[in-house]
Amino acid sequence: MAVRPVLKMGEPLLRQVASPVERFDAALAELVADMDDTMRALHGAGIAAPQIGVGRRVVIFELKENPRYPHITPVPYTVLVNPRLTPLGAEQEEGWEGCLSVPGMRGLVPRFRRLRYQGFDLRGAPLDRTVEGFHARVVQHEVDHLDGILFPQRVADLRNFGFEDALAGQMTPMPD
Ligand code: NI
Repeated sequence: MAVRPVLKMGEPLLRQVASPVERFDAALAELVADMDDTMRALHGAGIAAPQIGVGRRVVIFELKENPRYPHITPVPYTVLVNPRLTPLGAEQEEGWEGCLSVPGMRGLVPRFRRLRYQGFDLRGAPLDRTVEGFHARVVQHEVDHLDGILFPQRVADLRNFGFEDALAGQMTPMPD
């Protein structure tokens, strides 16, 4: 277990499509342990394997109750392997996102409000959930990483993209 360096926007691996996990083995458990340590050390709400330099389709996320984000419903700790997303309805909503690979910056990103996600947990057991709001947003953000997409590419109007300290007071903050 170790806190690993997080790749920043511009690194080629962050633009690549990650490969599916084929074995639910000790190497996967070790990868997830490192993702976990890194996410917690940096106080992130989620992280994807490519962000620590591993091009595999694995994401983790969690949001505990936090007085900084009273408007956000907590999200249970989830390890999601080989995810598949299905938006439910066309409705989108905008939210201010950040990312451990884009430190210090925030952007207003539209995401599907409700979706179903399927995949596998760390042991290979199937996961199948229908979620909405921040939970749906964090899954879409993390799964984008597996397809080589970072949130600035999703910002609909680049006037709504900038440095967190400069934007303070103009946005409702969301966890990274
Ligand atoms: Ni991110």
